[in-house]
Amino acid sequence: MEVHNVELQISAVRPDQYPEQGYPEIALVGRSNVGKSSLTNTLINRKSYARTSSQPGKTQTLNFYRVEDQLFFVDVPGYGYAKVSQKEREKWGKMIEKYITSRKELKGVISLVDARHEPTDDDITMYQYLRYYDIPILVVATKSDKIARGKWNQHESKIKKALDFDGSSAFQMFSAQTKMGKEEVWKWIEDRMGE
Ligand code: GTP
Ligand code: MG
Repeated sequence: MEVHNVELQISAVRPDQYPEQGYPEIALVGRSNVGKSSLTNTLINRKSYARTSSQPGKTQTLNFYRVEDQLFFVDVPGYGYAKVSQKEREKWGKMIEKYITSRKELKGVISLVDARHEPTDDDITMYQYLRYYDIPILVVATKSDKIARGKWNQHESKIKKALDFDGSSAFQMFSAQTKMGKEEVWKWIEDRMGE
């Protein structure tokens, strides 16, 4: 999709604040600092539209970015941030659960993992959780510019094995730095929008 217009419509904390246009929504989830905002910025051709974190874990709202009056990207606050209190974590968990399990506009979730490392326990839990609710998933392994091209296959296999990756999910190596994988991610999103 050729993107010219993007607007942060709302940073929501409650369902009654979610947008009412009925456009399809694609959520981005992943631990804090994995690169959700950077992926969003790459997809919409902006350098720093979606906030990239100087303070990891800061984003504690569901940020609905309206794209071309056609869809929303929903930037979900990062999980697994150590300095967040147990109470904050529970609050966050409830908000995400409510959104994921009851939002009919949600057409798919992009689950980001760091291409360099084994998925964390939180990554695995999130992936299995989305699988359980039968939500279309694209696993994006980001920061791939930080590993040699010759090692990508090996990293992909390790990530898939750790996640117990299901054949119905999609996988894409990605880099916000080189924009590698951008077209493939867009293709997946456009396919979801038509469903
Ligand atoms: P929270 O909003 O805190 O959950 O973080 P986030 O997932 O939105 O991460 P963000 O996009 O802010 O990126 C975190 C850091 O990683 C920033 O310093 C980015 O510049 C860097 N980063 C993100 N993606 C890439 C990538 O593909 N390659 C490289 N080299 N750095 C990246
Ligand atoms: Mg962010």
